[in-house]
Amino acid sequence: MRLDNTNIIVTGASQGIGKAIALKSAFYGADLCIVGRHSDTLKVTQGEIEKLGRKCVAITADVTDFESVTSMVKQAQETLGQINVLVNNVGWDATEQFWKNSLEFWDKIIEINYKSVLYCSRAVLDSMIENNSGKIINIASDAGRVGSSGESAYAGAKGGVIAFTKSLAREVARYQINVNCICPGPTNTPLNQGQPEKIRMAIERVIPFKRIAEPDDIAGPVVFFASSLSDYITGQVLSVSGGLTMQG
Ligand SMILES: NC(=O)c1ccc[n+]([C@@H]2O[C@H](COP(=O)([O-])OP(=O)(O)OC[C@H]3O[C@@H](n4cnc5c(N)ncnc54)[C@H](O)[C@@H]3O)[C@@H](O)[C@H]2O)c1
Repeated sequence: MRLDNTNIIVTGASQGIGKAIALKSAFYGADLCIVGRHSDTLKVTQGEIEKLGRKCVAITADVTDFESVTSMVKQAQETLGQINVLVNNVGWDATEQFWKNSLEFWDKIIEINYKSVLYCSRAVLDSMIENNSGKIINIASDAGRVGSSGESAYAGAKGGVIAFTKSLAREVARYQINVNCICPGPTNTPLNQGQPEKIRMAIERVIPFKRIAEPDDIAGPVVFFASSLSDYITGQVLSVSGGLTMQG
């Protein structure tokens, strides 16, 4: 499996799952546009990608701002050329009972987890449609498939990402554009660090593989969806959770 001659945008690529996706894609031969809010951490990822011999443009942008997103995509196209793959990875959550959430919290959850996916997808689609090819890979969550206590608003937003994936996949299939979705289970990233050890151990006990995912575990299936090996797969939702949740 190779990603030669493939230009990929990965959002939220300065740490966690996004960084692992960017590095694995580069390892398999892709050139990258990595996006994040902090130029210092993005530069570290950029350096690691360049050490793998791949081209990498690092763009500081806020994916909850449509103008920022369109300017980021334009810059990526000017530097790399046609964007072949978009990975909508940015996401955010904080665990709290739903009835204690503030209205501001809901807005933030919806903007980061759902609207960012709409914005980035919209921004790459014109050129993908014109080119009659492209792949969009959305990083949702198992919370959006099966629910998660203390994450109701987040699960709702991720459920929205899953439904959007399937609907957009139907709309753009005629242009040979694939839209698929990866649902990670609990993964060892900065988003989760700070979780009490007791909770982490309880989660590991119920995962059939008996360990929480590492970011690299999520990156492999993303590379598959970015590659030509998945050309006939669209509108699909893949859980990457060590067997914690299983589809019927
Ligand atoms: N870690 C898990 O257990 C887990 C489980 C299921 C799903 N996910 C999903 O996987 C994805 C990656 O999660 P992670 O754990 O690596 O998160 P993370 O918090 O470690 O990394 C997210 C990155 O996105 C960036 N980001 C956040 N808001 C942004 C914005 N508005 N504009 C640009 N960049 C922004 C952050 O700065 C950070 O670099 C998210 O969509 C998350 O919801 C994670």
